[in-house]
Amino acid sequence: MSVSLGTVAAQVGVTEVGGEAAPEAALRAEGLVKRFGAAVALAGVSFEVAPGEVFGLAGANGAGKTTLLKVLAGLCRPDQGWAEVAGADVTTEPGRVRQLVGYMPDRFGVYDSMTAAEYLSFYASCYRLPRPRAQRAVTDLLALMGISAKRDEPLNALSQGMKQRLCLARALVHDPEVLLLDEPAAGLDPRARAELRELIAALGEMGKAVVISSQILAELAEVSTSIGILHEGAMVAYGNAEQLLAGSEGLEELFLSLTEPEEQEAPIGEPAGTGEDEEGAATK
Ligand SMILES: Nc1ncnc2c1ncn2[C@@H]1O[C@H](COP(=O)(O)OP(=O)(O)OP(=O)(O)O)[C@@H](O)[C@H]1O
Ligand SMILES: [Mg+2]
Repeated sequence: MSVSLGTVAAQVGVTEVGGEAAPEAALRAEGLVKRFGAAVALAGVSFEVAPGEVFGLAGANGAGKTTLLKVLAGLCRPDQGWAEVAGADVTTEPGRVRQLVGYMPDRFGVYDSMTAAEYLSFYASCYRLPRPRAQRAVTDLLALMGISAKRDEPLNALSQGMKQRLCLARALVHDPEVLLLDEPAAGLDPRARAELRELIAALGEMGKAVVISSQILAELAEVSTSIGILHEGAMVAYGNAEQLLAGSEGLEELFLSLTEPEEQEAPIGEPAGTGEDEEGAATK
């Protein structure tokens, strides 16, 4: 990922946005609910992301991050609520949403016998990129991800981190305005993670709206201009990164304080506490 991003961006047709009046939200979600049987994965999630904003999504295992990103990518239908991504409605226009967003899943099956270049070309053709633009994008993105040398290697000859980079390249191949990245840093080495942060910051500066989930909270805070903390399907904190983190020692501390497991209730038949607690218990 060491190639100059500006050059690559210009080559793959990225348009930079600068100094203009704040445009409309690139992504808006209102009251999203998603249930899987009795499990509530999303319990009414609302937020928005402006062009140029990098929205960091934190949450424990099972908090609903992947479900939220899938709903926003048009891959999973919400039970209630609505969301508009790049001007398309995720419920009524999921096909358009899939064309307009760049989605990087947390787990990806790659076709082992395909080469890296074939894999990206395949996705470029899915997005109906004209052939010369597709070929240029494939070459530029392989260079951007630092895997040009693996261009003609079958995917089973790539390391896990290299596959991860290829998947990120895949999310960028059609130059989308909205990027939804589910734990893109997982499995990357420290240098690749630092380069990923640079790339994400640069994408934001170009005017892309980026939603990125991660368990590496210090790094997530570093790259995000706004942050949301999901806890049991609800957005328990959401706002400008600087404002949200002011007064706490960092995102990890804020996260731990907001997502503390509830205290165990006293077993039925036992008093709720000692005599000192009687006042509190009486208010229940
Ligand atoms: N296809 C599914 N069928 C049933 N339950 C599901 C399904 N997908 C997600 N869930 C449930 O929804 C909840 C949220 O899961 P989700 O994968 O969105 O969490 P997450 O925040 O991405 O977690 P992680 O950090 O482990 O990736 C969990 O309780 C999970 O068990
Ligand atoms: Mg997940």
